[in-house]
Amino acid sequence: MSAATFIKTFLSHPGQVGAIVPSSRYLAAEMVHWIEWPKVQAVVEYGPGTGVFTRSILHCLPPEAKFFAIERSPELAAVVRDCCPQAKVFEDSVENVAELCRQQQIEQVDAVLCGLPWASFPEPLQDRCLSALMDVLRPGGQFVSFAYWQGMALPAAWRFRRKLDEYFSDVHRSATVWRNLPPAFVYRCRR
Ligand SMILES: C[S@@+](CC[C@H](N)C(=O)[O-])C[C@H]1O[C@@H](n2cnc3c(N)ncnc32)[C@H](O)[C@@H]1O
Repeated sequence: MSAATFIKTFLSHPGQVGAIVPSSRYLAAEMVHWIEWPKVQAVVEYGPGTGVFTRSILHCLPPEAKFFAIERSPELAAVVRDCCPQAKVFEDSVENVAELCRQQQIEQVDAVLCGLPWASFPEPLQDRCLSALMDVLRPGGQFVSFAYWQGMALPAAWRFRRKLDEYFSDVHRSATVWRNLPPAFVYRCRR
């Protein structure tokens, strides 16, 4: 059912969803792997979709840490609330992360785990999302986001890659996650 909602949302908003099927649990494992979980006090997930990464985040999250997810599609936000009732999910754009943090009494975020389809975002939207992220991510904070190898054929994907170097002091790439459709890798960035 959740996969059907994902595909339906992709068909009505392809540029917003950017993938025809949800990520695999192997990609989810690669997303959470690098985060310094014992130090984390506040974490935000961008674009949870059907909650594949949300489940892994909740599994790693220290009991006292604050967490919420921001999902633009109301249908997918409902799917995440269903599969992960302990997660707070806001139906909003990540451009408004600072206001959502303020409402949650979070001053600074230690880590952001991101499922946004950057390669289908126009440049002004990439900039708005990254600059809003800088308003909340603490110095030294961690940001992870995935990309499909096939998506690297798009100029917007390379533009996003260059922007990561502008916004972060350190940017690395994981090994390829072959057990994902299509194969992907994770950007690991430190502010
Ligand atoms: C590629 S899907 C990833 C879903 C999930 N994380 C996964 O890996 O299966 C991208 C998700 O980001 C959401 N999204 C796109 N733009 C957004 C925005 N500006 N703010 C919040 N969510 C957004 C879409 O609705 C979609 O659920």
